[in-house]
Amino acid sequence: MTASMTASTLAFRFAVVFVVAGMLMGIAMAASHDTSVMPAHAHLNLLGWVSLFMFGIYYERRPALDTSRLARLQVLIWALATAVLTVAVAAVHLGHDAADPVAAVTSLVVLGDTLLFDYLVYRGAPAHQGAGFAPAE
Ligand code: HEM
Repeated sequence: MTASMTASTLAFRFAVVFVVAGMLMGIAMAASHDTSVMPAHAHLNLLGWVSLFMFGIYYERRPALDTSRLARLQVLIWALATAVLTVAVAAVHLGHDAADPVAAVTSLVVLGDTLLFDYLVYRGAPAHQGAGFAPAE
């Protein structure tokens, strides 16, 4: 990853990795008939795949944001927190209570990072006037 990578590219690259991990986890659960880590699977897919992909679409629609350091930081924090949260939630559901504080702290990091995204949305940046949104000829 280069320092010049846009926030959307970073988000899409993380998202496609997370969805493969999430699907492998789902397949493993189905094959083993053991769904004890289902909450971790759900969070991995929804935070790591769905949310990150949606951030990517938003940032790509706002070129000034897409190249901003703060947007890249938001994506980076999200990806790290998703990875930690997934492992911690899985550990808790496998009976390792010691992971509970890790899950708790990470959930607050995810909330804080959502507020950072909210700040970027409310701060405002002009939307990209893409050809895809031009009237049909
Ligand atoms: C190869 C792909 C996938 C497989 C094999 C898979 C498999 C599973 C399995 C076996 C369960 C447990 C169901 C149960 O026992 O009730 C589950 C739950 C769940 N999965 Fe997946 N999954 C896949 C992809 C995804 C994706 C892409 C998402 C989200 C975008 C997702 C979100 C969820 C959620 C939210 C639950 C919890 C549902 C509930 O609470 O009842 N999964 N998945």
